[in-house]
Amino acid sequence: MKQITEHKTGHIEWQSPSNIAIVKYWGKHGNQLPANPSLSFTLSTSYSQTSMEFDVNPDRKKFDLDFEFEGKPSPKFAERIQKYFERNAADFPYLNNLKLYLKSRNSFPHSAGIASSASAMSALAMCIASMESRLFGGFPEKSMFRMRASHLARLASGSAARSVYGGLVAWGESEFIANSSDYYAVPVNENLHDTFKSFHDTILIVDAGEKAVSSSAGHSLMTKHPYSEMRYFTARQHMEMLKEIMEQGDVEEFGKILENEALTLHGLMMNSDPSFILMKPNTLKIIEIVREVRESQKFPWYFTLDAGPNVHLMYPHEVADEARKLITELLVPYTQGGQVLYDQVGAGPRKIQGE
Ligand code: DP6
Repeated sequence: MKQITEHKTGHIEWQSPSNIAIVKYWGKHGNQLPANPSLSFTLSTSYSQTSMEFDVNPDRKKFDLDFEFEGKPSPKFAERIQKYFERNAADFPYLNNLKLYLKSRNSFPHSAGIASSASAMSALAMCIASMESRLFGGFPEKSMFRMRASHLARLASGSAARSVYGGLVAWGESEFIANSSDYYAVPVNENLHDTFKSFHDTILIVDAGEKAVSSSAGHSLMTKHPYSEMRYFTARQHMEMLKEIMEQGDVEEFGKILENEALTLHGLMMNSDPSFILMKPNTLKIIEIVREVRESQKFPWYFTLDAGPNVHLMYPHEVADEARKLITELLVPYTQGGQVLYDQVGAGPRKIQGE
């Protein structure tokens, strides 16, 4: 990347969605490199929108950042972003010439207790990549723009690397995914069965409180975990199995792996040292009902969980109307204050402002 020689300003704005992991990223090493490959669906209506005004001046000698979250200054997030830039200064040779005015907001309530780092950090990374494209006259190839954005998102939060693409996305080297890498994510939509292109994810908010364990602390539990090698092996196996399943549209086999991944993640946390139980009684209640309805009514819905108590319920578009009725009748009573977010596989980040 070239040095800054002239004063430039601009305004860029991106909307970037959250994603839900099918194969979970759990365990990392080095500078944000994953211990195993992961696979996710990028969502649609749960997104962050970030506006970035930049002022790059060769006479400036120190990076300067102004950050607002949902219309108010947020010292906590500002510090996280400041540290991100400083920690990765080698990636930003122009950092000391830079002044940024960032404004970010989420489409989902902050109190919903859903992880927002994937959407927030991918929106930020898309803005940075757009700014760099402006500063240095574009990228040599079109695909390098998203690659750079995914790399920058990964450095901020691993799962964010996957949100820079729509549809089904893989991050982490896997012999079963062409061009996959530990450094950035790749889209895997080429042979994806139509059933999965419109899959639904309904997020049932069981507890909107702060996360009991931060994701970084969570990942570090894997370093000395007695089952870590077996876990990484299983994740790689799931990538191989899912390749065929996703191409053939086999919802039942998809669901088996989806639930196994969620329960494995929680199992690993339960038998970590220290141990964490992140499910709440209502998480289990919902899981029980989902399985019971699936068996008794042959209803094709399946659950997954992030590192928290909220349940992601996944089902094909064909049964969406029926699912909504069942959710309202049977599952909403176990959510906190009736909080439910209806989401679906989406097309990835959307540019609001800037070329
Ligand atoms: C359970 O991406 O939040 O959601 O890289 O430390 O920011 P950091 O971790 P993060 O971890 C996400 C873990 C997960 C599974 C997943 O999304 O793959």
